[in-house]
Amino acid sequence: MARTTKKTAVILAALALLATATALLIYGPLLSSQSSYIDPADKSLVASGKPIYLTYCASCHGANLEGQADWRIRKSNGRLPAPPHDESGHTWHHADSVLMEITRNGLVPGVTAPEGYVSDMPAYSKLLNDHQIRAVLAYIKSSWPKQARDRQKQITQQ
Ligand code: HEC
Repeated sequence: MARTTKKTAVILAALALLATATALLIYGPLLSSQSSYIDPADKSLVASGKPIYLTYCASCHGANLEGQADWRIRKSNGRLPAPPHDESGHTWHHADSVLMEITRNGLVPGVTAPEGYVSDMPAYSKLLNDHQIRAVLAYIKSSWPKQARDRQKQITQQ
C-alpha cells in the first residue's frame, strides 16, 4: 500500500515537472519576444505593421506619418492634435515600453500623462494584440533615420 502511494507521488512529481517544462518551452520565447527591442530592421514585422498603421493610425497621424497640422498648438477644446510619427515628432524620444503602453491604453493620467490630462489618443488594447502593436511600432520606426533609431534603441535599453 505504502509502495503504491510512493509510486503515485513519483508519477505526480514527474507530471508536474513535465507541465512546467512544457509551459516554459511555450511561454518562455513568447515572454522574451514581448519584452525585447522592437526591431525596425525586421522586414516581415515592418511589412505586417504597414496595413495596421494605415487602418488604425493614419486617419490622425497621417498616411505618411506627418501628423496633423499645427500639432504643437492645442485645439479650442484644450486637446493636442496628433503629432507626427516620423523623425520630426517626438515618438522616437520614448522607450518601446512607453510606446507600447500609449498604444495599448492611450495617454493615461498618472501613468503616461500628468494627472487630469485629457487626450484624443484612443486605446487599442481591445482592437490589436501585442504582436500587432509591435508590428505597427516597427513600421513607424522604419521611417526614422539611423541616428534617431540608434538613440531610441539606447533609450529603450536604459
Ligand atoms: C483619433 C485620432 C488618433 C488615432 C486614430 C491614433 N492616434 Fe495616436 N495620438 C493621437 C493624439 C491626439 C496624440 C497626442 C496625444 C496628446 O498628447 O494628447 C497621439 C499620440 C500618440 C503617441 C505618443 C506620441 C508622442 O510622441 O508622445 C503614440 C505612440 C501614438 N499616438 C500611437 C498611435 C498608434 C500606434 C495608432 C494606431 C494604432 C494611433 N496612435 C492612432 C491621436 C490618434
